[in-house]
Amino acid sequence: MEYRVLGRTGVRVSAIGLGVWQFSESWGVTRYEDAVKIVRAAYESGVNLYDTAIVYGNGMSEEYLGRALEELGIRDEVIIATKIPGQMLAEHDVFKATERSLRRLRVDTVDLMQVHWPPLWHNIPTCEYMRALERLVFMGKVRFIGLSDFPRELAEAAQSCLAREEIASMQLRYNLLEREVEKELLPYVEGRGMSLLAWSPLAKGALTGKYIEKPPRFDDVRASDPLFHEANFPAIVELNKLLIKIAEKYSKTPAQIALNWLITNSSAVIPIPGAKTPQQASQNAGAAGWRLSFEDWLALKEASDKIRITRVTY
Ligand SMILES: NC(=O)c1ccc[n+]([C@@H]2O[C@H](COP(=O)([O-])OP(=O)(O)OC[C@H]3O[C@@H](n4cnc5c(N)ncnc54)[C@H](OP(=O)(O)O)[C@@H]3O)[C@@H](O)[C@H]2O)c1
Repeated sequence: MEYRVLGRTGVRVSAIGLGVWQFSESWGVTRYEDAVKIVRAAYESGVNLYDTAIVYGNGMSEEYLGRALEELGIRDEVIIATKIPGQMLAEHDVFKATERSLRRLRVDTVDLMQVHWPPLWHNIPTCEYMRALERLVFMGKVRFIGLSDFPRELAEAAQSCLAREEIASMQLRYNLLEREVEKELLPYVEGRGMSLLAWSPLAKGALTGKYIEKPPRFDDVRASDPLFHEANFPAIVELNKLLIKIAEKYSKTPAQIALNWLITNSSAVIPIPGAKTPQQASQNAGAAGWRLSFEDWLALKEASDKIRITRVTY
C-alpha cells in the first residue's frame, strides 16, 4: 500500500480507502457477517481509511463498521470518516447526530467528521454548523473537519467560520466518466492543501469492465442512475474497452487501472471505492503502489475527454 497525508493534518492514510455505503439496503450488503469480511480484507491489504455516513442504511453502515473495527481489534490503526447529512445541521442536531455516530461506531472520537451536503432547503446559516463542528474538535469528539459535495464558494465561506481549524478534505464525485471536479474544485483543494476524497471512483461499477454487454438493469441504488441509462452506454463501453486493453498490459484489472488513473492524476486525490465482496476490497487496494505510464495515463485522459455523460434522460 502507498500512503498519503490527509490535508494538512499530518495523518497518514492509505492512497485507496474503503467506502462502506455498501453496508445498506441501497447496495445490498445487509448481513454483518459479510460486512466484517470486507473490512478485514481491506485492512489486511493496507487500507486504513474507512468512509461511512449517518444516512447509509440509516445508521446500519456506521454500526457494522464500528462493530467490525472493534471485533478485529483495529480501531486505533484506522481513520474513521463519517458524515452528517444536510438536514441535521442545526446546532443542536450536529451535537445529537455526533453523539449517535460515536455510539454506533463504538468510539470516543470520530477522526474525520464531514458535512455530507449543504443544508439545501433548511436555511441553516453556514457558521452555525461549522462552529458546532469546531466546538466538537475543541471537546475531543472530532479530530478533523471535512466537507462533501460543497461548491467552492460555500467551502470558502465554511472555512471562514472557523476560528482555529482548517478544513482537511472535500469529498467529491470523481472518476474517469465524471470529471467535473477538475474544472474548479480539484485546483481549489490542491491550492488549499486539502485532500480530495473521490467518491464513486469506479463510477458505481461502470469502470470495472463488467457491464459492457448491454445496458445493465439494476435493482439497487443504480436503478435510476443516469450513468447507466442507455443514452450513456456507448461511451461507457468505449472507455471500458481501453481499460481492459491497458489492464492486460499491466496484469491488473480494469478497476485497478481506473483507480490508478485517479491517484496518478493528483497527489491530493484519495479514492474511496466501495466493495461488495472481500475480493473487490483487496483488488481495489491493489490499485496503489505502482503507476501507469504517462502514455497510458494520457490515452485514458484523451478517451475520457471525448465523453459527455448526459443526465437529461427524459
Ligand atoms: N459524499 C457523497 O455524496 C458520496 C456519494 C456516493 C458515495 N460516497 C462514498 O464513496 C464510496 C464509493 O462510491 P460508490 O459506492 O458510489 O461507487 P464505486 O466505489 O464507484 O463503485 C462501487 C461498486 O462497484 C463494484 N465494484 C467495486 N470494486 C470492484 C472491483 N474490484 N471489480 C468489480 N466491481 C467492483 C461493486 O458493485 P457491483 O459488484 O454490484 O457492480 C461496488 O459496490 C461509497 O461507499 C461511499 O462511502 C459518497
